[in-house]
This record gives sequence, C-alpha cells and structure tokens, in this order.
Amino acid sequence: MEEIDFIKVVKNEIKDKNLKYVILTFGCQLNENDSEKIAGMLEEMGYSKTDIFENADLVVFNTCCVRENAEERLFGKLGEIKKMKETRNTIIAIGGCMMQEKSMLDKIQKSYKYVDIVFGTHTLQTLPEDLYKVIVKNEKVKEVIDIDGEIIEGLPIKRNDKYRASVTIMYGCNKFCSYCIVPYVRGRERSRSPEDILNEIRDLAKEGYKEITLLGQNVNSYGKDKFKYCKNVDNPEINNFAKLLRAVCDIDGIEKVKFMSPHPRDFTDDVIETIRDCKKVTRMIHMPLQSGNSKVLKEMNRGYTKEEFLELAKKMKDNIPDLNLSTDIIVGFPGETEEEFDDTLDVVRKVEFEQIFMFIYSKREGTRAAARVDQVPEEIKHKRFDRLKELYDSQVELQNERYIGTVQSIMIEGPSKNDETKFCGRTDSNRVIVFDPTGKEKIGDIVNIKITENHKWFLSGEIV
Ligand code: SAH
Ligand code: SF4
Ligand code: F3S
Repeated sequence: MEEIDFIKVVKNEIKDKNLKYVILTFGCQLNENDSEKIAGMLEEMGYSKTDIFENADLVVFNTCCVRENAEERLFGKLGEIKKMKETRNTIIAIGGCMMQEKSMLDKIQKSYKYVDIVFGTHTLQTLPEDLYKVIVKNEKVKEVIDIDGEIIEGLPIKRNDKYRASVTIMYGCNKFCSYCIVPYVRGRERSRSPEDILNEIRDLAKEGYKEITLLGQNVNSYGKDKFKYCKNVDNPEINNFAKLLRAVCDIDGIEKVKFMSPHPRDFTDDVIETIRDCKKVTRMIHMPLQSGNSKVLKEMNRGYTKEEFLELAKKMKDNIPDLNLSTDIIVGFPGETEEEFDDTLDVVRKVEFEQIFMFIYSKREGTRAAARVDQVPEEIKHKRFDRLKELYDSQVELQNERYIGTVQSIMIEGPSKNDETKFCGRTDSNRVIVFDPTGKEKIGDIVNIKITENHKWFLSGEIV
C-alpha cells in the first residue's frame, strides 16, 4: 500500500470517533516545521488538534538531542503520560532527532515499553502506516531508518501561523562541528529542488502568507549536493543559496524573507550582494560565532578564525546598511581557558550583536569533543555563561536607546499582552514594539512605527 492509502484506511477506521492529537515539539525551527507536517498528516486522517494534554487520544513527541536539557524534558513528560496511557489508552508516538540515536532508541525500547510508535527524521512520511499498524493490526512500531533517502515532497502540512511560514530548503548537515550531534541524527546535506521550494512559496503567497523563513542547518550550502537526492530538478540555473534567495524575493505577495542558519564559512559575496539588493530580506542576519578564539574555533572544526569572523561581520555591515547580526555562542567547550573565553567576550564587544543565543557546552556522546578528557568543570562553565550574559545585557540597554527616534517596519501580531487596547509586533531583531492602533490596522498588516520610549523589556512608539 502507498502512504496515501494508509491515510485513507486510518481515516476510515477512526471516523466518527472525534479523536484528538497533541504534538510536543522540543527542537529547532526545522523540528517545528516537521511537526507542521506531522499535524498535516494527522488532520488528513481525521484527527483534530487539542491543546489539552489530558484530552488527547494521540500524543506525538518530536524530540531534539542537541543539548542534554532537551532530553531531560522528554523523559519528564513521558513519565507524566504513563497514567494517561493506562486510563485512556492514549497512543504515544516519539519521533525526531533523539530517536536517530541508537542509545536513546534502546532506552525507549527497554524502559518505556508503553510507547507505541517510534519514528526517525528520515521517514516522517511513514507515520500513517505506523498508525495503521497500531490501530488496525494492534502492533507496536519501533523501527528507525538511518539512510538518507530521496527527499519526499507533497506531504500535507498544517501551519502554525497564518502570515509567517517556514520552508525547509535543505535537510541534514555535512559540517561535523566537533561538539555537535546534528550531522549524526539528521544525515547528509540534501537540498530540495528549487522549483519545489518556489512552488511551495508561490502557493503560500496566494494563501496570504507574507513572511517566509528559509530553513536548513547550513542554508548557504544549498545546492552543493548537486540535488542528487531530488526526484527531478526543473530549474538547474538556481543552483546556490544566493540565486534561490533572489528567486524567493521575486515572488509577489511575499514581503519579508528570513533564513536560518547560514554558516560564516560559506557566507560568500554573492549572498551579501543579494541581501543588499533585495529589500525583502530582513536586516537581521543570524551568524553563529560559537567561540571568539581561533584555537577553540579550530578544535570546534568551524573553518574560520576570530579575525576572519570579525572581517566578515565588518564586510556585511559595510555593504548592507542597517544590518543587525544575531549569533549563537557556546561557553565551556573542552579545554577552553579563561584567556580563550576572553576572546569570545572581545568579539561580542566588537560586533555588538542584536541578539545572542548562549549555550553552556553539553557533552554529546559520539561527537569528537565528548571524547576529550579536558572537559571544563560545570561551575566554571556557569561562571563564564554569567559573564557573557552580563556583557550582553549591558549591550541590550544601549541598543534599546538607539532605537528611540528610528522607524521600524513590523508585522502586527495581535493585542499587547499587558494592555489589550494596544497592538504589538516585533522588529526583525526580535524587539517587542507596542503601539496605539488608529482603528484601520488589522493583525498581519505590516506597519511603520516611530519608536518613542524604551521600557527595557519592550519599546513603544506610534504609527507613521
Ligand atoms: N546549524 C546551526 C546550528 C544548529 S544547533 C548552525 O551551525 O548555526 C543550534 C546551536 O546549538 C548551535 O549553533 C550551537 O551554538 C548550539 N549547540 C550545538 N551543539 C551543542 C552542544 N553540544 N553544547 C552546547 N550547545 C550546542
Ligand atoms: Fe551542528 Fe555545525 Fe552542522 Fe550547525 S553546522 S548543525 S553546529 S555540525
Ligand atoms: Fe535539535 Fe534536531 Fe534541531 S537535534 S536542534 S531538533 S535538528
């Protein structure tokens, strides 16, 4: 049977039962985009969404394993759900990156026998078949396939938002940064065909979507695999990220284009020129630094030095007016000394990132860094984290002040949480802006706001 037939059979089997599902997503935006596809398949089968855990007939966990705390959260929730299984016979399915780790899969098989379905990141599309086996055949399904298969197109999707949409442009990662588990659980880089991506975005524009985020672990490696995992490539001229970005910006109706994450090593001049030329691309670019010390960067296998990163940041800021950068930083990588950590603070001082996602190094079994004997003690890692945070907080204060008097283009998200008479939205740099509506605006509109006041956690202003 084809997957589409399994959808039909399950639909027939559960009809009139009014069954409900909950999906818990633990990971990154790619993981969230997968959850939207899982939701799409479930709704096609006749399940409807509930936000109340206790009302669910099917609970899907979409897991992450990039850091240890993501795992702890999963096991906490799994314990809670055991009771539900006993009283309601809820079907429990676990998918996502963690299930691609053999040790985790074994742990679920051995200690969490009440789990019905385990699925991986490579074979999302088999979920209808898995459900069929559980519901119709009364079997348990706990297989995870570890082969980078052909890219599957055309899965149904139920998006979380009406105006902003994420579009995965490539799967997997080939970079093998020495601390990171992602290449092991997501497999090799696989780019989707440009036509499939552009058609998806054209359809989104027709449905009224205005903002698109292009997703991939290394979006600027797009096309480097020569599309060998695609069924057909209709538009071979679009063979790199810069060209794809331009083509996305040419789509009428799309007003804002974002992407997550680029790699500094592959941030070529054609990408910088494209951002400069295409005003739809947001002026907030995520540029993961990880460490500001060249020796640590080398050991991380990042492929750039402190100086090269600083040069790139300068080149981008010189060429793209009003550009802001955000970044990811890991503190306490094995062997990191106090002086080496100071280099990270130095880069933070120099680049003045708008937003920093800070992480304490977390040992991931199977990665090269995990095998090192010179792990940094927890206490020191935490101290470094606090110092970085302190520096960043002081920069945010100053940056907030710099917004005063500027005009920011934002999409209206809805009424402000603290004052329902006001509307709120976010700048590209993720600052919350609150303003008084004139009565003409509606949610989803893009408006220009002149910033007048700094309230520390948000900024306020007026429509211009
Ligand atoms: N491909 C993206 C990142 C994906 S993971 C990129 O290269 O930017 C998101 C972030 O998690 C990384 O940027 C890194 O800062 C952090 N991270 C990854 N592995 C980690 C680990 N073992 N410990 C702590 N943080 C980690
Ligand atoms: Fe992990 Fe590095 Fe790949 Fe990002 S580029 S997913 S940090 S291995
Ligand atoms: Fe986590 Fe997988 Fe994303 S490990 S960060 S959900 S790619």
